Amino acid sequence: MTSLKVALLLVVVSVLSSVDCKPTHCELWAGDAQFHCSKDNYKKDTVLVRNRVAAHISFKVGKWIAYCGKDGVNYSDKLYTLNSGARVKLEFGEAGLGICHSLFVYDCKINNVNSNCLNAVIVSPDL
Ligand SMILES: *[C@@H]1O[C@H](CO)[C@@H](O)[C@H](O)[C@H]1NC(C)=O
Repeated sequence: MTSLKVALLLVVVSVLSSVDCKPTHCELWAGDAQFHCSKDNYKKDTVLVRNRVAAHISFKVGKWIAYCGKDGVNYSDKLYTLNSGARVKLEFGEAGLGICHSLFVYDCKINNVNSNCLNAVIVSPDL
């Protein structure tokens, strides 16, 4: 191949791989009830969950994996509790090419009373 062809090929490859790759991002989900963080073809990182009220809270974290666009399976489901002002860093595994990972923060409670997660926690990728 000529060097021009090699250069073009490299441009095409880098555009294709950057199209696929979606870094970790978190959004409100199911109204204000849950948070949903997702990534697609992106490295292992962490998601930070902070207690946003002056009270004891609890929530569950469910982790799912799927071929992007297909139904997934959950591989982890855990209960967390945080005192006022506390935070926790959640590991969020690597997603290879064509693989989508989801992390749900759900079932939030403030002082043992059901609450929208929007009112209980702040959830963000830990960049
Ligand atoms: C999958 O989620 C259900 C609840 O939605 C839970 O009961 C179960 O333990 C989870 N499985 C794993 C492997 O985390």
